[in-house]
Amino acid sequence: MKLAIASDHAGFGLKNRILRYLSEKKVDAVDFGADGRDSVDYPDYAIQVAESVSKGTLDRGILICGTGIGMSITANKFPGVRAALCHNAVTAEASRRHNDANVLVLGERVLDEETAVQIVRIWLETDFEAGRHQRRLDKIHAIEKAHPD
Ligand code: RB5
Repeated sequence: MKLAIASDHAGFGLKNRILRYLSEKKVDAVDFGADGRDSVDYPDYAIQVAESVSKGTLDRGILICGTGIGMSITANKFPGVRAALCHNAVTAEASRRHNDANVLVLGERVLDEETAVQIVRIWLETDFEAGRHQRRLDKIHAIEKAHPD
């Protein structure tokens, strides 16, 4: 699996921690920035990750901003992207099992590093359950098809 990852300035510190974890676990990741704590606009970074997942050039994505909210709103504009803002082990696991989330969103200002790394580990290790959950995803997909522009 190859990941796309990006943050804004507010998520930059946690992004570095997650990149370190991914490298320890030998998970390939393309880092789309940001490159420091200078103020930037989160949509510019969410777009790059969401587009690569939407187009299938990369398998899954991780986005980090202050709260995770702006990154979630932006990423979920892209067809086929199911971005999930997760806060703990329960939401991380459910986002994969029930929602087949292909983008994980984290908030540096609302999470401690240990919890964030635990969320990433669970999110990477957990499979989609399909079954009744697939029917629900099909309904989401139908919304995208009904509103192409
Ligand atoms: C930046 O100050 C902050 O607004 C951003 O990181 C994010 O939390 C937006 O949702």
